[in-house]
Amino acid sequence: MNSPVTPLIRPDELRLLKEYITEVFGLVVDKNNEGLFTKRLFSRLEGLGLATFADYYAYLKFAPRRNEEHKRLLSLITNNETYFFREEPQLRVLAEAVLPALKEQKMRCGERKLRIVSAGCSSGEEVYTLAMIAIESGCFLWDWDVEIQGVDIDHQIIERARNGIYAGRAFQTTPDHYLDRYFRKCDEGFKVKEILTRITRFTEGNLLQLEQIVEEQSADIIFCRNVLIYFDDESIKRGVHAFAKVLRPEGHLFLGHSESLSRITSNYIPMRFPGAIIYKKRD
Ligand SMILES: C[S@@+](CC[C@H](N)C(=O)[O-])C[C@H]1O[C@@H](n2cnc3c(N)ncnc32)[C@H](O)[C@@H]1O
Repeated sequence: MNSPVTPLIRPDELRLLKEYITEVFGLVVDKNNEGLFTKRLFSRLEGLGLATFADYYAYLKFAPRRNEEHKRLLSLITNNETYFFREEPQLRVLAEAVLPALKEQKMRCGERKLRIVSAGCSSGEEVYTLAMIAIESGCFLWDWDVEIQGVDIDHQIIERARNGIYAGRAFQTTPDHYLDRYFRKCDEGFKVKEILTRITRFTEGNLLQLEQIVEEQSADIIFCRNVLIYFDDESIKRGVHAFAKVLRPEGHLFLGHSESLSRITSNYIPMRFPGAIIYKKRD
């Protein structure tokens, strides 16, 4: 994006590229962002030595190395904004209502396994937040098998998540207690401690095919916050359908506060709490 001038793209080229991105990744390029989108794509035309956007479209669809190009493209068009302890009212519902109820239910059937998935986890702050909450809840200590898995389509951001080093804005809403207990200082900022890395893992992948990444009917809870706002309705349906496959019966789904399933599907029951709505998979 060195050039201040928006490169010329034919309307049919723009439409094809936008449709392709929605079909494959679920993401919708907003009309207001088309200029920026075109500039970013143009940097890839230059990188690959292609003459037109139509050539780039053909490259994305047919080139033998298209998977690598998908990764580069995604890193340019995804919004990775995130931070620890984002949307606190939902996290309170998780800590005070959902986790204790899950523990009780699992104890009754003699199961000591907790699986949480963060779909669209970005650089990992959400995953480590969920790990801290699970530990602090005191519900899943000792011989419990706990795993919080982050999934994101952007391979660069997944590498950052695995690195687990954070600074500045990532901690904008992090209480000091958590910083002291779960992080150690390093040259670049703060690195997550082993107490968190041993119960978390990160996988590069597309949430539209979550069942190819996470075992079917295995997840107790899925977090997918501030991701579906970038999707069209059809892609949201595909996403929540994939979640339903991966969730256990009556598993919980947490969406971002501005994301709702009311127009989308009746496969989930909304549960209202102060400041938060969460969804339960219908049996
Ligand atoms: C704005 S961040 C949200 C991060 C975190 N969930 C939160 O609420 O703070 C959105 C993330 O969703 C990821 N994403 C977008 N489309 C995706 C898809 N189809 N599959 C998996 N991840 C996707 C992006 O790469 C980005 O990192």
